[in-house]
Amino acid sequence: MTEKTILRALAGKILPTPPIWMMRQAGRYLPEYRATRAQAGDFLSLCYNPDLAAEVTLQPIRRFGFDAAILFADILLLPQALGPKLWFVEGEGPRMETTTTMDQVRALKSKDLIHDTLSPVYETVKILARELPPQTTLIGFAGAPWTVATYMIAGRGSKDQGAAHALKTADRATFVALIDIITEATVDYLSEQVKAGAEVVKLFDSWAGSLKGDDFVDFALKPAARIISALKALHPGLPVIAFPREAGDGYIGFGAAVGADCVAIDNSVTPEWAAAHVQPGGCVQGNLSPVHMVSGGEDLVRETRRVVTAFRKGPHIFNLGHGITPDANPDNVALMIETVRSA
Ligand code: CP3
Repeated sequence: MTEKTILRALAGKILPTPPIWMMRQAGRYLPEYRATRAQAGDFLSLCYNPDLAAEVTLQPIRRFGFDAAILFADILLLPQALGPKLWFVEGEGPRMETTTTMDQVRALKSKDLIHDTLSPVYETVKILARELPPQTTLIGFAGAPWTVATYMIAGRGSKDQGAAHALKTADRATFVALIDIITEATVDYLSEQVKAGAEVVKLFDSWAGSLKGDDFVDFALKPAARIISALKALHPGLPVIAFPREAGDGYIGFGAAVGADCVAIDNSVTPEWAAAHVQPGGCVQGNLSPVHMVSGGEDLVRETRRVVTAFRKGPHIFNLGHGITPDANPDNVALMIETVRSA
């Protein structure tokens, strides 16, 4: 049996101590990340520099000994590889050339050409597969089609994903064609990450929560199911983590419906609710609020223990409910890990 605790949890094992990693564990809250990013010049140059991207992936492993490393890249690299220009505005976030008409969807590059842009990402994975400690699991990732489409349609992040919802209503054929192209390209992108050495992949549907009713089924659940079944056909036994963030009741049965081995839980639901309603379906990941990485103290210790206790009766990977924020204190991360491992 494998020694890697993350892989054991993903296989459904209940471990005495849950394995741990953290969304955005390589990020601006770490001074060593900020130094390497400055060396790269900017965020995208860092993503496309395999040596430096591997270096920042390894930094939180060295500092904290997390049980998994997540490839350092971004969900917006795939749409960029399909053609639209991408840039980041300091202090604001991503900007992207918009894709809102059928002509623009048809003008996107063929999925066979994405690797021209994305090959440095695969190179990063190869370096990591060589350099990670033997007990550390390497996680690759991509954005889920709906979340990626929201950025392609609006050209930026938005609170309510209004532009994507509007296109879905006004020109459904274009919207569906875009979702299909992203879905197909995501299979190839993740498959290349696996060939390069990723042991697990995670699909981030950060904006799944704004899809309701049939839309949730059509544009969160079905694309994830297509991606996961295609990947598992190519790579039998590949463990997959799905993250339909803020899905609420949509979390119930989601893992089985999409064929994921683990469902990541955000902190809009309590760990007790997720343990009762989601964990019976298999491994769950989550779900301490990232706010505790800023505020620390007794609240952090109490809430960390609460998450561990709530999920103790089933397979669990300890994580935050969303990414750690730049204002977090690394000492609080150390305290969280110590608390999980002694709980
Ligand atoms: O988790 C990790 O450590 C792995 C790397 C990773 C990043 N982004 C690095 C990053 C992962 C898995 C992502 C996923 C991602 N990117 C998502 C899905 C998860 C989520 O957070 O909901 C989304 C929506 C994006 C798109 C994106 N990238 C946005 C909206 C932003 C700007 C917001 C922000 O935090 O600045 C980014 C930038 C980004 N991606 C940073 C990092 C470390 C910060 C960039 C910097 O150094 O300035």
